[in-house]
Amino acid sequence: MHKIDIDLIEMTMDVMKYAIDRISATKRNIGKPKKEEELKALVGETITSEGIGGEYTFNLWKEHLMKATVPVDHPRNLAFVPAAPSRAAVMFDLVTSASSIHGAYWMEGAGGIFCENEAMRWIVSLTGMPQGAFGVFTSGGTAANLSAIIAAREYWRRIDPDHNSLKGLIITSIGAHSSVKAMAKVIDADILLVDTEDSLKAEDLQKTINNLTPLQRVRLFAVVGTGGTTNAGIIDDLDGIATICEKEHLWFHVDAAYGGGALVADSVRHLFNGIERADSITIDPHKWMFSPYDCGAIIYKKPELAKQAHVQDGSYLDIFKDEGAIGFNPTDYQIQLTRRVRGLPLWFSLATHGTNRYKEAVERGLELAQIAGKMIGENPIVELVREPSLSCVLYRRIGWKPEDYTNWTYKNHEKGFALVTPTKYKNGDTFETVSRFCFINPDTTEDDIQQILDSMM
Ligand SMILES: Cc1ncc(COP(=O)(O)O)c(C=O)c1O
Repeated sequence: MHKIDIDLIEMTMDVMKYAIDRISATKRNIGKPKKEEELKALVGETITSEGIGGEYTFNLWKEHLMKATVPVDHPRNLAFVPAAPSRAAVMFDLVTSASSIHGAYWMEGAGGIFCENEAMRWIVSLTGMPQGAFGVFTSGGTAANLSAIIAAREYWRRIDPDHNSLKGLIITSIGAHSSVKAMAKVIDADILLVDTEDSLKAEDLQKTINNLTPLQRVRLFAVVGTGGTTNAGIIDDLDGIATICEKEHLWFHVDAAYGGGALVADSVRHLFNGIERADSITIDPHKWMFSPYDCGAIIYKKPELAKQAHVQDGSYLDIFKDEGAIGFNPTDYQIQLTRRVRGLPLWFSLATHGTNRYKEAVERGLELAQIAGKMIGENPIVELVREPSLSCVLYRRIGWKPEDYTNWTYKNHEKGFALVTPTKYKNGDTFETVSRFCFINPDTTEDDIQQILDSMM
C-alpha cells in the first residue's frame, strides 16, 4: 500500500476513536475559554505552505483547542438555549459528512433529501398545519426566520404592485428573538415592537394595528408571534393573533425555534393552539429536537409561496429543474443554494429511537423546570421571578446586584463546574438582572440543580 494511504487510514482511525470516545462518554468537561493570543502561543502557526501534518494538528486540537470550548451538551450547561444532540444523531452527522451529499436539488441529493423529508413530515404533523404544508431544513432559526420574512414580503408585493415601492413593516413584541429584529434589518423592513415581555395578546396586537397611520397600515405585511420566548419560555396568544392576521390579511409567522420541540409534549401542547393557523413556522431541531448543530427548519402553510420568493434561476441550474430531475428541491424554499443535508442526523435519530423517546426527553426538560421551580421556592436565598414556562426558569438571588450574577457565572465557568448565565427581565418599567435556567438536556439531574443553587450561597 502506498504510504500516503496508510497515513490516511491511521489518521481516519484516530479521528474515529476520538469521535467514539466523545459519543460514548458519560462525563463531559466544561472547557475554559482562553484569549486568542494565549491559544496562538499554545498552537503556533497552523497554516503553513507545507502543512504541519494531520497527527500533529489533531493533537493541537485535542490538547489545547477543544479544551477551550464549552460543550453544549454538558448537563450543567443551562445557558442560552443549550443542546443535547442524541448519540445517534451525532453518529449520523459523521455519516452525513462522509457521504458528501449536495442537498440543494433532488437530482443530486435524492436519497438524503428523502430522509430529510421523512423527518420533516413528522415535524409538520406536530404543528397540525393543514394538508400541503411542508418545510425544509435551514442552518438555524435565524435563516429560517429570514426565509419566512422574505416569503411574506414577496407575497405582499406580488398581490399589489404598489407595495413594490414601499418599505415593509412587521409587528412583533419585545419578547421576540433578536434574530427577528436583525432579519427585518436585512430585508430593510421596519419593525414595531409591542411593549410586553409577557405573552403577546390579541387585544394588544389589535390596538397596535388600530393605532397605525394609514401609510403604516399599508406597509404592514406580517406579524411575528413567538412559540416560546428565548428569555422566559413564554408563548404568545397564537390563536388570537391568527384570528387578527386572517381578518387583516397579514402573514402570520410563528418563531418557535426554541419552543417548537415542545409540540411533541402532551403536557404543554395546548399552549401552542393556533400555531396550525400560521403561514410559516420556525422550529430548530438543534435546540429541542436533539440534533447537532446546525439544523433549523422553516415550514410553510403554502410552500408554493415560498418557492415563488426563493427559487434561483441560472442557466447552469436549468438541468435540475428539467423533467428528468423532477423531485423536491430544498433550495427553492429558503435562502441558501448549496446546502448540507442537515436534517439527516435528525432522521436517523428519529428512525432509531422512535418518536416516543423524543416525547419523553422533552417532557423531562419540562419536568426539570418544574423541579427547579420547586427547589427555588423552598430555598430562602433565591426566589422565582415568574413561574417556570416551558423549560425556562427565571429566578433571583436575594440581595445580589448585576455584577454578583456576572462574577458568579465566571467563577463557575472558570472552575469547569457549570455554565449558567444572567439575563434581564422587564419588571414594570425596569429591567432586572436575574439568573436563568434553560433545560434541554434530559441527563441534567436534580443534584446538578441543587449544586448550582448551593454555589450561590
Ligand atoms: C426563539 C428563537 N428564535 C430564533 C433563534 C435563532 O436561532 P439560531 O441561533 O439557530 O439562528 C433563537 C435562538 O436561540 C431563538 O430562541
